[in-house]
Amino acid sequence: MSASSVNVVTHPLIQHKLSLMREKDRSTKGFRELLNEIGMLLCYEVTRDLPLELVEIETPISTMQAPKIAGKKLTFAPILRAGVGFLDGMLALVPSARVAHIGLYRDPATLQAVEYYYKAPQDLSDRTVILMDPMLATGNSACAGASLLKARGARDIRFVCLLAAPEGIAQFQLEHADIPVWTAAVDERLNDHGYIVPGLGDAGDRMFGTK
Ligand code: URA
Repeated sequence: MSASSVNVVTHPLIQHKLSLMREKDRSTKGFRELLNEIGMLLCYEVTRDLPLELVEIETPISTMQAPKIAGKKLTFAPILRAGVGFLDGMLALVPSARVAHIGLYRDPATLQAVEYYYKAPQDLSDRTVILMDPMLATGNSACAGASLLKARGARDIRFVCLLAAPEGIAQFQLEHADIPVWTAAVDERLNDHGYIVPGLGDAGDRMFGTK
């Protein structure tokens, strides 16, 4: 299978907001708000090609065939905990979406993703699932999240992150060549601790003020 596509979303609003988030003195409140705002903008991009169907509606003037999104409700699948940072922004655009929570933490010694929680709608097989995690670093969490969703029947998965490292993209493409990726930027590399350089630090800690 050929490598999954990587869509770098270069919209000036996203790039500007991302630069604000990278600044080390950005407040927890500011960081969280910006992540939600970018989530909303990335949601707009990742849903750009959703299929439409014509449905008869009645305007105050007449009936018409109007386009509406076809199929079952979207599912948003944030990887806990940093993925939650995108959620409100995405739900602001798609309020009827279902939400699947995927609990993974990164073992600090091995950097491997360890599952501790999973709760999702039953019928994933005929839904578009948007898997989300702000930082695609080693790729371990994203790969594990995608594997979990596939094991539970998901067939149409898209992955959204804020920042990606080349190493994470390569790993994700190796394991999930069928899943397209949307990101606001691809940074230089990972450091020895698995952090993205220049990056923005630990997204979860910065979002929740836990450092
Ligand atoms: N997770 C983060 O929050 N930041 C990184 O740079 C890498 C992984």
